Amino acid sequence: MIHHNKFGMFIHWGAYSMWEEQEQHLARSNMPHEEYEKTAMTFNPQNYDPENWVLAAKKTGMKYICFTTKHHDGFCMWDTKYTDYNIMNTPYKKDVLKMLSEACEKHGMLLSLYYSNPDWHHPYGYNDKSTHQWRSKNSNSLHFDEYKEYIKNQITELLTGYGKIYTLFWDIPPCIEDRSMNEYARQLQPEIIINNRGFDEGDFSTPERSEADSLLQARFDSMTEACNSVGEQSWGFRKNEDYHSVRFLTNAIDKMMSRGASYLLNVGPKSDGTIDEISLGILEKVGDWYNRMEGCLEEHNEDCFPYEIRKNKFVVNKKNGKSYFHFYDGIVSSAISFDKYPNIPKRVRLLNTGAELKFDTDPLPGFFDMETGMATPDILHISGIPVDELASEPIVLEIEW
Ligand code: GLC
Repeated sequence: MIHHNKFGMFIHWGAYSMWEEQEQHLARSNMPHEEYEKTAMTFNPQNYDPENWVLAAKKTGMKYICFTTKHHDGFCMWDTKYTDYNIMNTPYKKDVLKMLSEACEKHGMLLSLYYSNPDWHHPYGYNDKSTHQWRSKNSNSLHFDEYKEYIKNQITELLTGYGKIYTLFWDIPPCIEDRSMNEYARQLQPEIIINNRGFDEGDFSTPERSEADSLLQARFDSMTEACNSVGEQSWGFRKNEDYHSVRFLTNAIDKMMSRGASYLLNVGPKSDGTIDEISLGILEKVGDWYNRMEGCLEEHNEDCFPYEIRKNKFVVNKKNGKSYFHFYDGIVSSAISFDKYPNIPKRVRLLNTGAELKFDTDPLPGFFDMETGMATPDILHISGIPVDELASEPIVLEIEW
């Protein structure tokens, strides 16, 4: 099985960023299409330098960027010959996707493409049957085949003109199965990994803004890519955004990635092409934690040993023969005590600080065997964890058994 277990940056950027509201502003504001489209064609991101985005992603520890080539508004962020409603006909006149693909290539960043099935500009833009699909101008499902042809033509451009594409992120399942669409994408890009929001179930699921523990299994048993944004209200840039706390985000990243998922953390650049200071500050802090995790969240395996740790909630994964214990909600005291463990560790390290931790198996006075009234023997006791200093981030221990 392909291992899609990486940290990535989602980027929602398009004409909608000009309103600084939300990426679905056209539908949500009920603005006349003509008014929106007239403004969209004045899009002119004078400060766009995709290297800045790629370097910010790299610094955060991210390995791929997933970019919105066309969102629901239908405005295309590349040089497409299938509609005039694209970036080349704005005062900017440059293929922003091309520029991004070159910057990614230069810095060894993988590139993934987001493509919206709903299209509020195309006269036959598909919009029946599923959620989020506001009616386009002349909705007419009889013409769906024509619209599908349009999608196919655009996908051809996207998957042939911009180098190697890591994943394809269809958005909004059309609720019509047509396996030829993904098969076609795979002909163009044999190694591409495709999400489940297209014309069939694809390769991976896409839990969105859903990190609640109650929704999670111990480890994802199929390929999964979770996503959330630095902001709680919008994926595109929003001036009055409610930004997530770094604590919430690192917690979410740790709990999803330690279970085997990829994680896309979204930013919405402003209409001038720059990422706002608050988002950059969040990325920096997330990256500070993530980079101390030494890659243990990526491309790891399941650790099948039936560990038991007293009092603490944890997720464990394995990489390069070492086990990684993730305590994303923190630890109850400055020590953890295993009731079940495979053998005496060779070494225990706290990834947050890099420090080696002391451990022993002496009986502990605090834990009694109910039957004998004696302290329980054989507990593996790892101590000296500076839990209060680390209260603002997930704690991860590396154990070499
Ligand atoms: C939802 C929203 C869309 C956003 C996407 C990101 O589908 O409708 O606006 O782009 O989530 O995954």
